[in-house]
Amino acid sequence: MKRYLITGGAGFIGANFVKYILGKYGSDVDLTILDALTYAGNLGAIAAETALPNVRFVKGDIGDRELVEKIVAEHDPDFVVNFAAETHVDRSITNPRLFLETNILGTQNLLEVCRKAWLTGKDAAGKPTYREGKRYLQISTDEVYGSLPRDYDTARELELTPEVKKVAEGRTDLHTFGSGLFTEDTPLAPRSPYSAAKTSADLITQAYAETYGLPVSITRCSNNYGPYQFPEKLIPLVINNILEGKKLPVYGRGENVRDWLYVDDHAKAIDMVLRKGRQGEVYNIGGFNEEQNITIVKTIIDIIRSIMENEPAYRKLLRHPLENIDHGLITYVSDRPGHDMRYAIDPTKIATELGWYPETPFRTGIEKTVRWYLDNPEWTADVTSGDYRKYYEEMYSNR
Ligand SMILES: NC(=O)c1ccc[n+]([C@@H]2O[C@H](COP(=O)([O-])OP(=O)(O)OC[C@H]3O[C@@H](n4cnc5c(N)ncnc54)[C@H](O)[C@@H]3O)[C@@H](O)[C@H]2O)c1
Repeated sequence: MKRYLITGGAGFIGANFVKYILGKYGSDVDLTILDALTYAGNLGAIAAETALPNVRFVKGDIGDRELVEKIVAEHDPDFVVNFAAETHVDRSITNPRLFLETNILGTQNLLEVCRKAWLTGKDAAGKPTYREGKRYLQISTDEVYGSLPRDYDTARELELTPEVKKVAEGRTDLHTFGSGLFTEDTPLAPRSPYSAAKTSADLITQAYAETYGLPVSITRCSNNYGPYQFPEKLIPLVINNILEGKKLPVYGRGENVRDWLYVDDHAKAIDMVLRKGRQGEVYNIGGFNEEQNITIVKTIIDIIRSIMENEPAYRKLLRHPLENIDHGLITYVSDRPGHDMRYAIDPTKIATELGWYPETPFRTGIEKTVRWYLDNPEWTADVTSGDYRKYYEEMYSNR
C-alpha cells in the first residue's frame, strides 16, 4: 500500500487527483491531505473522500515546520505531492509577497522535512542515502518557461513525431499557433510574480536533488480545466457569467494561446510520474489542445446556448433570457501587464518514457466541464462568497 501526503488537496487539481487516486487504487492507498483552505481551497470538493477511513484532512500551512514534521512522522508518506500554492497570476500582480512565501518557502519547508525524515545515512562515497520508495513531487507549471511567440494568425496542423504518434492513439485534428513548443530543456524565463515564484520552487527542488540527493521529480503542466476549478479562472468564470447574464471579460483581443489539459489526464500523468518516473527528472505535461482565449469563450457560449435550447430543464439556472446567450456577451478589457502570448507543451518525454499522452480532445473535455458546472450550481454558489464578489469588482470593473 502506498501512503501519500497531498498538499493543496482541497484545490482544483489536488481535489481531482485525490478522486483519481481513490478511483484507481481504492482502499489500497492511504491519503493525508494538508491544505490551508485559502479562498481557493474548498473542503466541499473532497467531502466524500475525507469521510473514507483511508483518507484524512489536516487544515494547515505547508510552511508550518512543526505541523509538517508531525504529519510526516505520524503517517510516513511514500509520496509527497505538492499542489499547494498561490496560483492566480492577477493576484500575484497585486500581492507578490504572499506568492513568494507560499510557493517558495512553503516548498522548501516540505523538502527539508522530507530530507530529514527519509535520510538513512551515507553511502561509501559519502553521499546521503534515503529510504527506498520515497518520492517528493513538485507540481510546477509551463509558465516557468515564459512565453512563446505566436507565429501563425490561424492554427496549422501540429505534426507529431513518429515516437509520439505511436503513443498518442486516437488523437487527431491537432493544431498549433507556432513553430516552437516548450521542452524540458527550454530555458526558464518566468515573467510574472506567480511564475517567478514557481520557478524558484523548481530550482530549490532541483537543488535538494543535486545537493542532498533527495528523491524528487518535477512536473510542468499546461493550463488545466475540468470540475471544481475556482471561478476566477477563465473557463468557470465564463460559464458562471453566462448563467448570470454578466459580460464576459476577455483580455486584450483574446488572441493569447494556451494549451488546455483536461484535469483527469493530468492526474493520470502525475500518478505515472510518481510510480514510474525517473528520480531527479522534469516531465512536461501538455494537452495537445492549443486554443485562443477568444475561441474558448465563444465555444462555451455556443455549448451553453445549445444545451439550454435542447434541454429546457437547465433553463432554471439562467438569471436572464436565453436569447441573450450569444457572442455579444463578450467584452474586451485592457490586457494584463506582461501577459504571456502563447504556451504550448511538447510532451515527447513523458509519452516516450512513460507511455502517457493527453487522451481528451478539447471539445470532449469542455463539454464534460460545462455539464459538470450546470449539474453542480451549488458548488459555485458556495465558493463564490462575498470576498470573491469584492475581488471580482476590483479586477474587472473600470478596465
Ligand atoms: N490550474 C492550472 O491550470 C495549473 C497549471 C499549471 C500548474 N498548476 C499548479 O498546480 C498546482 C495546483 O493548482 P490549482 O489550480 O489546483 O490551484 P488552486 O488555487 O485551485 O489550489 C491551491 C490549493 O492550495 C492551498 N494552499 C494555498 N496556500 C497554501 C499553504 N500555504 N499551505 C497549504 N495549502 C495552501 C489552497 O487552499 C488551495 O486548496 C499549483 O501548484 C499550480 O501552480 C496549475
